[in-house]
Amino acid sequence: MPDVNPLLEEARKARWFAHAPFSHFTVGAALETTDGEIITGCNIENATFGLTMCAERVAVFKAVSEGGRHFRRIAIVADTEEPTPPCGSCRQILWEFCGDIEIILGNLHMEAGRYRLKDLLPMPFDGRLLEK
Ligand code: THU
Repeated sequence: MPDVNPLLEEARKARWFAHAPFSHFTVGAALETTDGEIITGCNIENATFGLTMCAERVAVFKAVSEGGRHFRRIAIVADTEEPTPPCGSCRQILWEFCGDIEIILGNLHMEAGRYRLKDLLPMPFDGRLLEK
């Protein structure tokens, strides 16, 4: 089993920059490329609520906007005993850009679980369905 503690630590640190004045629920994500690079994200809320962006999507969009295309795993951290899994929108975005990556969930103290995205998003819609 690879040591994912450094990735979880980066996700924990990413929470510090969360903008969550409405929910006070801060989330950090750390996305690892196949080259071992780490790109972080935090949730960024908006007074309209609907424009809120989750930590996972911030990390993916940051990475993709800088040319990243090949990803190995993502760590997601919130201050909860039960792990915080990615929301449905984030699962879809993760599938689009990362395929069946490993999802590491954690809290402030520990790793709380490892999953594959295909198990969290069974029967995904993707570009293959648009091909004729
Ligand atoms: N949130 C994330 O950033 N990632 C998740 O996986 C779940 C939810 C954020 C969105 C919002 O700012 C706050 O957590 C409460 O839903």
